[in-house]
Amino acid sequence: MGFCKNFLWGGATAANQFEGGWKEGGKGPSTSDMLMGGTHTVPRRITPEMEEGAYYPSHEAIDFYHRYKEDIKLFAEMGFKTFRMSIAWTRIFPNGDDKEPNEEGLVFYDHVFAELKKYNIEPLVTISHYEMPYQLTKKCNGWVGRECIDHYVRYCETIYKRYKDVVKYWLTFNEINAGTMPFGGYMSLGILNEGTTSFLDQVDIPQLRFQALHHQFVASAKAVQLGHSINPDFKIGCMIAYMTTYPYSCNPKDMLKMQKQDQIHNDLCGDVQVKGEYPYFSKKYFSSQNIEIKMEPEDEEVLKAGKVDFYSFSYYMSSCVTEDESVTKTEGNILAGVKNPYLKASDWGWQIDPEGLRYTLNRLYDRYQIPLMVVENGLGAVDEVKADGSIDDGYRIEYLKAHIQQMKLAVEDGVELWGYTPWGCIDLVSASTGEMKKRYGFIYVDKNNDGTGTLDRKKKKSFDWYRQVIASNGEDL
Ligand code: BG6
Repeated sequence: MGFCKNFLWGGATAANQFEGGWKEGGKGPSTSDMLMGGTHTVPRRITPEMEEGAYYPSHEAIDFYHRYKEDIKLFAEMGFKTFRMSIAWTRIFPNGDDKEPNEEGLVFYDHVFAELKKYNIEPLVTISHYEMPYQLTKKCNGWVGRECIDHYVRYCETIYKRYKDVVKYWLTFNEINAGTMPFGGYMSLGILNEGTTSFLDQVDIPQLRFQALHHQFVASAKAVQLGHSINPDFKIGCMIAYMTTYPYSCNPKDMLKMQKQDQIHNDLCGDVQVKGEYPYFSKKYFSSQNIEIKMEPEDEEVLKAGKVDFYSFSYYMSSCVTEDESVTKTEGNILAGVKNPYLKASDWGWQIDPEGLRYTLNRLYDRYQIPLMVVENGLGAVDEVKADGSIDDGYRIEYLKAHIQQMKLAVEDGVELWGYTPWGCIDLVSASTGEMKKRYGFIYVDKNNDGTGTLDRKKKKSFDWYRQVIASNGEDL
């Protein structure tokens, strides 16, 4: 038994990391547009106003805005069944609260979806991927303002109605659980508290952060209901950054610590979005952190009525937790932890753990019993273009192959898995560092960390490999 016949193989991207054209076609600035480039060791700076001469990677990114035909053709050549992309909210509502949508922005996505249709590629659309309209950050400190619910729902209504016959799969918010961590304040919730200048070191006010997250939950639930009323065939999912964690030792204290961490950072958001209510453990957590969520009388009903159809998540790595302060730490996509002696790590310190994906798929299916999708997975690495122009990314093939094997085992365990869209199927800007050097793609983009480069596209070795994986429905690895 292998992957189902109509398994959705594809790749994943996000508007702010690959579209560019940040000011074209009437687009307004988003929170991502105010984020300067950084590196593995230099954190990205958040500038409250655009700085003259500073480098902002999202402004041009890899210029999908002008090259979408060429890129989609390459995805089609690999045999993509689906393509995960996001719509930039600020192309549709440049300020977030505009009275009318921006027609030029809508037309851009008309063209993109038409191009995908030409090759029978099913779009999988993230409605909000780390880029809220910057004007809403200025006006109401992002999602702290309850009015964002209405702005977001209006945005959803506009795109649902416009694309109801061409898009079936939607994700309401990318990695919504980033909001359970201080780093997610700006990126995920659009919060910019006074004194914040660095993406990695934000002035964090947990009360505001969790209130803002509550507003996203309500917005997501309303969006699910609305979507189903516009087209009952829509499949609308949540998207969680899944941070697989193990206890570092069999010390029961490590086990309990891991459980607490799982509950707040992994389970809380999924529980609200799949089960339609806050889980039992949230009460104690909120009171221990002096957090009081202000709810309107209808909120509980709204959450119950807006449960998602499927659960999607990103999976890159795993880490450990322990009570023991002396143990070495590791880096990570969202939540760093303790180094696992059994695992190797990427050049950016993310620990590679294919078996953790099988464990995670089983854990999630057991908890939620709704279809799952792995909508991000991959290896950020430095790729070298050889003198003959070839790019031998065997390490990437090895990483993806091992993860697909484990996904297959999870399917054999009985997990219902709909699809797999590895991250950054074409090289794009790194979210955490703003670099181009950290590449994930099957397609190489000639662009450097400082913004120089021809933007030419080139197939890597993994391109043909992935084509063969898709053609054989995951049998020929
Ligand atoms: C996920 C995000 O957390 O990880 C993506 O949804 C991001 O936007 C991806 O790009 C990989 O992280 P990074 O920092 O290597 O780009």
